[in-house]
Amino acid sequence: MKGQDSAVRPHREIVSFVRRSARMNPSQERAWRDHRDTYLVEIARGPMSTSVEPQEALDWAEIFARTAPTIVEIGAGNGDSLVATSAAHPVMNVIGFEVFEPALASTFAKLAAKNLSNARVVLADGVQGLRWLVPSGSLEAVHAFFPDPWHKARHHKRRLVRPETCELIADRLRPGGVLRLATDWEDYAFAMREVLDASSLTNVHDGWAPRFDERPVTKYEARGLAAGRVVYDLCYRR
Ligand SMILES: C[S@@+](CC[C@H](N)C(=O)[O-])C[C@H]1O[C@@H](n2cnc3c(N)ncnc32)[C@H](O)[C@@H]1O
Repeated sequence: MKGQDSAVRPHREIVSFVRRSARMNPSQERAWRDHRDTYLVEIARGPMSTSVEPQEALDWAEIFARTAPTIVEIGAGNGDSLVATSAAHPVMNVIGFEVFEPALASTFAKLAAKNLSNARVVLADGVQGLRWLVPSGSLEAVHAFFPDPWHKARHHKRRLVRPETCELIADRLRPGGVLRLATDWEDYAFAMREVLDASSLTNVHDGWAPRFDERPVTKYEARGLAAGRVVYDLCYRR
C-alpha cells in the first residue's frame, strides 16, 4: 500500500518555509493590482503553489529588456533589501524570490515608489527558482538575509543554508561571484559557517564578514538587536 501511495502522490521537497495565510491589506491589494504586470515574473508551476515546474531557464534578457550582471535574493520578505540593492545598482538586474504574496505586494509598492525598473520578483521557492529558472554561472551575487532559523534539531533539514543549497548557489554564481548571508541566531550562524566551509565556496574574510553596508536594518534585524542578539554577516566567493 505504501509504495502505491507514494506512486500517486507528488513528491514533496522539504522546503524552508511554511505557507501562511495570504490575506493582503488594502494598500497591498492596490499595489498587487497596479504593479504585478511590471514586477511579477509569471512561471510554470509545479504541484504546489510555490513550486517550480522543471523547465528551461527563463530568458532574463527579454524580461529585463537588457543583459546585465544579476543579483538574486532568496526570501526577500517585504523587499527592503531588494529595493536598496536595486536602487544602489541601477546597472544590475535584481531578482527576488519570495513565497508570501502580501510581502511581494509590499515590495512592488516600494519598487514603484522609487520608480525602479531593474528588479523583478518571482512568487516561488527560491531553491527551486535557482534550480530551474537561473542558468549556471550567471549570477554576480546571491543574498539571503535573516533566513528562517528553524530552531529545533529535527527541523534543521528545512534550513535554507544546507549543503545541497550551497552547491546549487555555488553553481549559479559566476566565478568570483559572492553569497552574502546574515542572521541574528548564533547557532544558525555557526551552522552556516560549518556548511559553507565544507562547500566549494571560499570565505572572503578570515571568519565573519563585516556588516554588509548595503543591507538596510529590517524588522528581523531590529527584533534581534532589541532582544540582545548579535547579528552575523557571512560572505563566500565562488
Ligand atoms: C525571516 S524572513 C526575512 C525577510 C527579509 N530577508 C528580511 O531580512 O527582512 C524570511 C523570509 O523568507 C521567505 N522564505 C523562506 N524560505 C524561502 C524560500 N525557499 N524561497 C523564497 N522565500 C523564502 C519567507 O516567506 C520570509 O518572508
